[in-house]
Amino acid sequence: MPAYAIGFEPLGRKGECLSTQSLLACARQLGVGISAICGGQGKCHSCKIQILSGSVSRPTPSEHEVFSPEELKKGWRLACQTYPAGDCRLSVPPESMTTIQRAQVEGLEIAVRPEPPVQSYRLEIPIPTLAESQADAQRLLEALAQQHGLQCNKVDIDVLRTLSPRLRSWKWQSQASVRQDEVVALGPWPSHHLGLAVDLGTTKIAAYLVDLSDGQTLAAQGAINPQISYGEDVISRINGVMESPALGMKMQKLAVKSLKQLAIDLCTEVGANTEEVVEAVVVGNTTMHHLLAGLPVRQLALSPFVPTVSDALDVKARDLGLHIAPGAYVHLLPNIAGFIGADHVAMLLATDVWQSRGVTLALDIGTNTEVSLIVNGKITAISCASGPAFEGYHIKHGMRAASGAIERVQILDDIVQYQTVDEAPPVGICGSGALDAMAQLYLTGVLNKGGRMIDSHSRVRTRKEQREFILVTADERDGQPDITLTQKDVRELQLAKAAIRTGIQVLLETSGCSEEDVDQVVIAGAFGTYIDVSSAIAVGMLPPLG
Ligand code: FES
Repeated sequence: MPAYAIGFEPLGRKGECLSTQSLLACARQLGVGISAICGGQGKCHSCKIQILSGSVSRPTPSEHEVFSPEELKKGWRLACQTYPAGDCRLSVPPESMTTIQRAQVEGLEIAVRPEPPVQSYRLEIPIPTLAESQADAQRLLEALAQQHGLQCNKVDIDVLRTLSPRLRSWKWQSQASVRQDEVVALGPWPSHHLGLAVDLGTTKIAAYLVDLSDGQTLAAQGAINPQISYGEDVISRINGVMESPALGMKMQKLAVKSLKQLAIDLCTEVGANTEEVVEAVVVGNTTMHHLLAGLPVRQLALSPFVPTVSDALDVKARDLGLHIAPGAYVHLLPNIAGFIGADHVAMLLATDVWQSRGVTLALDIGTNTEVSLIVNGKITAISCASGPAFEGYHIKHGMRAASGAIERVQILDDIVQYQTVDEAPPVGICGSGALDAMAQLYLTGVLNKGGRMIDSHSRVRTRKEQREFILVTADERDGQPDITLTQKDVRELQLAKAAIRTGIQVLLETSGCSEEDVDQVVIAGAFGTYIDVSSAIAVGMLPPLG
């Protein structure tokens, strides 16, 4: 079976690919992160690449559907549909990469007084002698009692495994991290005292490294949840596990692998060691929570949609496969219900809306959107299947809020003004840009009330029996394909915004409130930070605010 040399640009990664292997499979084998939301079925179009040189298989029907003849001529292909027919070199555009460049980890930093469950203490442990020959662990616990008044009675087994040689190499000067009555980490004095906070989303993972001594966020990074290749929403992942139970463990391992890498990258960024991370907190929707903890998920998809556990959990990080400080725990926040998870609990806590007076709407917009209505402290919550359109998926030129993503759009007659992430040349459109574009097209009459695109605007054209609005022309992009918002994109965005608005209406009706009663709306996360609220109101995603 012939094998060919394949080069991936701009990463400069090279390797061999069999003629029976798709370029996506080859990329995976070489560790090149190409987005593959549909798992290589040619449906999601997230794996776009450009062949720079060499020969490959002929375009498949799904590629003819995505690309115009000119684009195919320029080498644009779907990596999952393309097989090498000789040595070749290809380029992976930023929107197809799985590594988030500007991670969606930004938001309002709220000052909190840290109250970590793990405290660190400087210790000078007496050197053993023939007269004072207690065990090293005993001397450690006694030093904690004598020097800090702590009544600890346990040393984690993995801390014990390296205790004796380490104490001697550190000349008996050390820093002990204590959780309740247990020593969970031991380092030389002085060591960092770090915590890892993770939002494990259906599509994205956001991770933050926090200094537990003062609560400062030292570094933040994001990544695409690699489970996405087994289904882009929680239901398809649960269905996958129902069909093949081993998939649950596979997805658990994938999530942990990503967390491990994020922990390494964050620690490297601040010059720390992952062993100095003495506690982790993970939030996610109930399915993400259960998959990470290795809990069954089948019952979540079956009425009455019951979680295995709704209380907070403390699990040894190593039991999940996460390697941070030897005895560190992962704290999983409580879930509310089968489809309202720990991530929403975190949002309610972080924004303080749970104790707000009056009527507050709190939204966490994602592939699964959770909405809470808080009426004088009483919280009612709902979950809506809004799909990933606002995360840039299912949109022809959709992408994450990475460098070059159009994040703001303004349309004046024939002129389109846009702003991109990092002010980089435009490569696609992210959720806030798509929402803006839809609102602007509606306000300028290019979309009618039902969302249908008119064909009389100079920037509207028909491609493959579908209308699309040209946001950025190929000329403006030095010959790269136009960036458009298609009629189908508008329908996807309509579905997403309608799911959210329906959730809001149900909450208002069941709580006996009307839209006019709403005093404030809080939108969590990165999307909440970048979204133009007037666009959200214009398209009917949010009720008009007073
Ligand atoms: S992974 Fe190639 S189209 Fe979905």
